[in-house]
Formats: sequence, C-alpha cells, structure tokens
Amino acid sequence: MLKKNTNNACNIRYGDIGKLSIKIAIIIILLAIMVLLFIIYESSVLGSPDTVGENIVGKSGNKTIIIVLVDNNKYEHELETAWGISICIEKGSKAILFDTGPSPEVLIHNSMKTGVNLSSTSIVVLSHEHGDHIGGISALDSYAHKITVYVPHGFPIRIIEQLRGKGYNVVIVNNTIEIMKNVYILKPLYGPPWEQALILNTSKGLVIITGCSHPGILNIVVEAIREFNKTPYIVIGGFHLIGSPLQQVEEIADQLVRLRVHKIYPLHCSGNRIRRYLAEKYPQYYGDGGVGLVIELSN
Ligand SMILES: [Fe+2]
Repeated sequence: MLKKNTNNACNIRYGDIGKLSIKIAIIIILLAIMVLLFIIYESSVLGSPDTVGENIVGKSGNKTIIIVLVDNNKYEHELETAWGISICIEKGSKAILFDTGPSPEVLIHNSMKTGVNLSSTSIVVLSHEHGDHIGGISALDSYAHKITVYVPHGFPIRIIEQLRGKGYNVVIVNNTIEIMKNVYILKPLYGPPWEQALILNTSKGLVIITGCSHPGILNIVVEAIREFNKTPYIVIGGFHLIGSPLQQVEEIADQLVRLRVHKIYPLHCSGNRIRRYLAEKYPQYYGDGGVGLVIELSN
C-alpha cells in the first residue's frame, strides 16, 4: 500500500502563505529603501545626474546646461561623431558655444537632434586656432552680426579678419575676463598654440571646460584654482593625452583627483588611457561622456 505523503509541497497552510507574503513584502521594502539611499547618495556626492537632452534651449530656467554638441567619442547614438569638440552652455535664454567642431554640417545636425537652437548663440569662445575647434563656425554665419567671438591672443590675424569680414565682433582675450554673469574665460596659456579655457563659477565649485589643453590640463586647472581661489567641481573637454605614456597619464589623473575635482569628463583628444584608468581606479570621479552628453547644474 502506498503511504500518503503528508509533506507534499501543495500541502501549504493559509498561515504559511501569509508569512511568505510578509517576508516578500519586507524584502521589496528593503530593496526600495536601498535604491532610494543610492539615489540620494549619488545626487549629494556628484550633484545633479546627467540627463539626455531634448529641446532644452530656453527651458533651463535657473539651471545651467552643458551640452556636448560635437565630439569624436560616441555617447548618444543619433548624433554624429567627428574629430573635434564643441560644447554649448545654456543659461536661461542665452547660449554660449565653446568651440565649434570641425564642420558646420556636423554642428547643425547635432544641434537639431539635441534641440539646440544655434540662432540663440550670442557668444562663441574659440579655445585655439586649430581646425577641429573652429571649422564649424560658418554654421553661425547667418547670425554673425549679433555674435561676439572671443579668441586668445596669438590667434592668427588672417582668421580674425575673415571672421570680422563676415560680421562677427571679434574680441582678443589677454587676461581672465567675465563674459556673462559667473562665466569667465581663463587667461590664455601657451601650448603652443595659445589656448583659453571657459570657467563657470558655480556654488559647488569651478566648472572648467577645455578645448585641447595644449598648455597641459594640470596647468589649466591649477591656474583656474589660483585665479578664482576655489576648488574645481567639474573638468570637461580635451586633455591632449592621446599617445602620452601610461605612467604620465596615470599621474595626471591622480593629480586631478588630488586637486579635488569632483567629476572628470575626458573628451576629444584625451584618449582612452585616461578614460579607462579613471573608470577603473576612480569610478566615483569619472564622467563617461561623448557627443550628446548633457550636464545640468543648479547655479
Ligand atoms: Fe583638438
């Protein structure tokens, strides 16, 4: 005769079901609390999270929005990559374009895809004279009469005359100047060539935006700290480290962290060595980025 199996899995009492439900509910609540704590930690340590841009110009309100319009690193897949860099800084209804990438076509395409209205540009800052930074400026020629272009001293006179001939107001920068409330151009440093960086002076620290860092990324960051007597919050742009020896790249990355930079976004000519090293050794300070990256800053 077969024995009746009283331990059958189907033989669960209603009381057991109730206890199981309570356990599952407790686990779900604990997981939700952990996710919430992680989000709070991220936002308190790193500031506002990065978001993907869509029709953002004119909608920034009190925030400053940084949008990478051109870069050779892929980030947002609908955007075109190109060797060079262009970064839009949006404050309220005003837009500053820092460098313009190598071609007007790429700049126009990516601006349209990200919702950036190039006609709202009133200021263009050219970090230095190389084609991968100035080649896209003709995308703005239709609005040249209302745009001031800041170039570092030592910039070729021939190009300045071309720009003036198109109607741009060209200003040659010799020393650190404020070009908009809490937005500065750091005095040009020599690479060669002469190169200038853009500085946003925020309540969380300095946002330092670089083109190619021919004078050296550390020299630029140290000069910004000295000039503003403030810690750097974000460093973003080209660091000119492609082809640099690994040891040198690692020392520069270590030094940026020692200088208390909160978030480091190596773009353009920074190379993969520093990106990999920061991602592995300092993931909390590494900012993954490329064309289409959007950073929101509360002022
Ligand atoms: Fe470059």
